[in-house]
Amino acid sequence: MKIFLDTGSLQEIESFVALGIVDGVTTNPSLMAKEKGNPREITRRICQIVKGPVSAEVIATDVDGMIREGRELAAIDPHVVIKLPFGKAGVRACATLSAEKIPVNMTLIFSPTQALLAAKVGAAYVSPFIGRLDDIATEGMNLIEEIVDIFQNYAFTTEIIVASVRHPVHVVQAARLGADICTCPPAVVEAMFKHPLTDIGLERFLKDWEKAQADGQDRV
Ligand code: E4P
Repeated sequence: MKIFLDTGSLQEIESFVALGIVDGVTTNPSLMAKEKGNPREITRRICQIVKGPVSAEVIATDVDGMIREGRELAAIDPHVVIKLPFGKAGVRACATLSAEKIPVNMTLIFSPTQALLAAKVGAAYVSPFIGRLDDIATEGMNLIEEIVDIFQNYAFTTEIIVASVRHPVHVVQAARLGADICTCPPAVVEAMFKHPLTDIGLERFLKDWEKAQADGQDRV
């Protein structure tokens, strides 16, 4: 499963890319609003750092505006993926941009029928939001399971990005279901590294080694 970072923070992106575990980045207007500087310039920098798919979301809500903004964002860098909000305007804009070979990530997906419609108009990615479903007492992972099942029945090339991820258990569940991608906030990736037994284990190894040295045992 590919791991994308769900952030607009250059600093966080740089630190995780350096570890070799980041396949792409997703942003949205809320994440970009947290960052200082011109959003398009930030998008360009993210592309240079990641060298993989970087989703940049349009602000327009009408078809023509989405297409115009999508083309402008796509001109920033070949790695840019245009994020369109799901709806009739988004579906129409997706069909046009996809026909122009501009990859689209259809966002704000909350049902399997929405994912199916997005795939039919050539979306390169769909982003079902699982955390926001969990927030309203609906099992978000059931949606991923349904979309995985549906896509397996057909020859769609649309990839599933598990979005609105809140904790590492979501990542494990996404991987077990065979989702293509999980886009994670940096705090979730940080948590994926941690296990207290790893820390305790290393501490014990080093202590035993030091003791052997102090006891004068010959160690190379
Ligand atoms: C990513 O594509 C989404 O915009 C993001 O995961 C939404 O996450 P949130 O529900 O935590 O805002």
